[in-house]
Amino acid sequence: MRKNIVAGNWKMNTTLQEGVKLAEEVNEALKNVTPKCDVVICVPFTHLATINGVIDSAKLGLGAENCADHLSGAYTGEVSAPMVASTGATYVILGHSERRQYYGETSETLKTKVRLALDNKLTPIFCIGEVLEQRENGTHFDVVKAQIEEALFDLSAEDFGKLILAYEPVWAIGTGKTATDDQAEEMHAFIRGVIADKFGTEVADNTSILYGGSCKPSNAAALFAKPNVDGGLIGGASLDAASFMGIVNAF
Ligand code: 13P
Repeated sequence: MRKNIVAGNWKMNTTLQEGVKLAEEVNEALKNVTPKCDVVICVPFTHLATINGVIDSAKLGLGAENCADHLSGAYTGEVSAPMVASTGATYVILGHSERRQYYGETSETLKTKVRLALDNKLTPIFCIGEVLEQRENGTHFDVVKAQIEEALFDLSAEDFGKLILAYEPVWAIGTGKTATDDQAEEMHAFIRGVIADKFGTEVADNTSILYGGSCKPSNAAALFAKPNVDGGLIGGASLDAASFMGIVNAF
């Protein structure tokens, strides 16, 4: 059966020292509890190796927020999947709406990144989600389906089964405007149906689909209670250990 997962996405926040302190706080908080979900933090590239040295990997997973669409070579400033893996990280967020929106990431690029991540034994947390205009004009289901089809339908069922998906309606990210639990459930059930049609019900049933967008301790329990919501990808609220743990403990 699929796992429940709460993953933090720190985005471009914290210096190395602040990040290590935050990771230590989350790690410490996890010592005393047995959460009903896997817990992961996805952190800036610069923090990965150091944070890997201060957390208990049996209780707290570590991931990057992106990786390059090339394996190695003359790509100044990029960080490859093997480089991420060499820090000890085992997850990588791919296709976040901020990457799509501000850095021009397309489904073609993402297809390559997913392949490179899987080849390097990184678990992609693959993000999909519509913008407000698409929600308002009723194309949100088509948009999300196309994002999945274009980047992920070339995978084998076995490889698809290694992914985590994150539905993040762009209008809910960092806006304080959360999708209602019914809106999240409706889309998550739709996504699971898209997966089932292509890869079969077993793969669909085993795929964790996280919700992201202004998720916080006060709304997490209601979201996570929905049958197709398998956890959260948490931005702002993951930058404070107590609020992140409040979401972890919502399961
Ligand atoms: P917020 O939780 O800050 O809305 O961000 C969500 C997100 O983008 C996680 O990837």
